[in-house]
Amino acid sequence: MTSSIVPGRPDVRELSSIALDVWLLRLSDGSRVVAKHQFFGLLTRGKNFDLLQVEFEVNRALRQAGCHVPVPFGIDPEGQFIFMEYLGDRTFLDVCFGQMPLGCVSRVIAELLLIEETLATQPNWQNRVVLGGHHEDLTDRWRAVEEVALEGLGKTLRIWDAMSCFDRLATSLRTLHGLLAARPATLGTTDYQPRNVMCPAGQRIAFLELGKLGWDWTERRALQYTSPLDCARVSLTSKQSILGELGAAMPSSESRCALDMHHLFFRLILAARDPISADLELLQFPLSDEPTMMTIRRHLREASGRGTHPTFGDLIDG
Ligand SMILES: Nc1ncnc2c1ncn2[C@@H]1O[C@H](COP(=O)(O)OP(=O)(O)OP(=O)(O)O)[C@@H](O)[C@H]1O
Ligand SMILES: [Mg+2]
Repeated sequence: MTSSIVPGRPDVRELSSIALDVWLLRLSDGSRVVAKHQFFGLLTRGKNFDLLQVEFEVNRALRQAGCHVPVPFGIDPEGQFIFMEYLGDRTFLDVCFGQMPLGCVSRVIAELLLIEETLATQPNWQNRVVLGGHHEDLTDRWRAVEEVALEGLGKTLRIWDAMSCFDRLATSLRTLHGLLAARPATLGTTDYQPRNVMCPAGQRIAFLELGKLGWDWTERRALQYTSPLDCARVSLTSKQSILGELGAAMPSSESRCALDMHHLFFRLILAARDPISADLELLQFPLSDEPTMMTIRRHLREASGRGTHPTFGDLIDG
């Protein structure tokens, strides 16, 4: 199959697995090609959100428009494979585990913004949105976030022995939740995690997995693309410097405020699962000077100082 897809029709010399359902093919002309099996692709075959077809077309269009995504070589609809350019073996998550090159986060954000702008200016992509990626799905999911965040807040305050602060923090949280809901969403990727950003050493940053288009907020994508969740392997100091660079990379003060708010919800959602590993200390890091966020930070700092646990303000300042 590859021989008919890759220019020059070279043979496959070696095949190795690089991720679940993803293989690296070494060809006889020395080049390397990635083959990804789209496991759920058949279920979408022939639809306007056909996973294989959309990934191929989006990557081709974005690449032609100057965005950095893998060059798509072709698809095999029978076998449900997409063949594309190999972009190295270093994801943003790998970068987080080592010494983060200066400016890496701002380059990730610049590429993300370019992809979103390009998708917004080209016609037709709005009709290719994946199931679950429509505006109303975003509204539904975001509505559910409010309860989960409040649960995270409750669990956290209980540990801090500061439940008396719950009501005032919950009121602010509800206000912010409404403000974020009212912000316009952008068309882009729906799987925004550090493993989907490739950071080949010395080369331009690239984005993977554009087959599932959907509506979401730029700031939420920006935050989650650059937030390593393998907490133990990345120090709090590194996470804080990533956040600092992220805030500086956002295109406007309005966008920084939204990022700050999304960060609050992000940490509280993690806290709903486990407040101890949610890195709540990072909420003391001011991503904006938005007044409600400043007040929340102060209340959280006060609440964290009430119990017998270490105050989290100290962790950040120290
Ligand atoms: N073009 C590529 N160059 C280098 N590595 C790649 C490439 N495509 C995929 N990979 C590797 O394989 C992993 C999984 O690929 P990808 O994210 O595209 O698929 P997935 O997560 O299985 O998602 P889905 O099947 O939902 O599209 C990536 O995190 C990356 O490590
Ligand atoms: Mg992926």
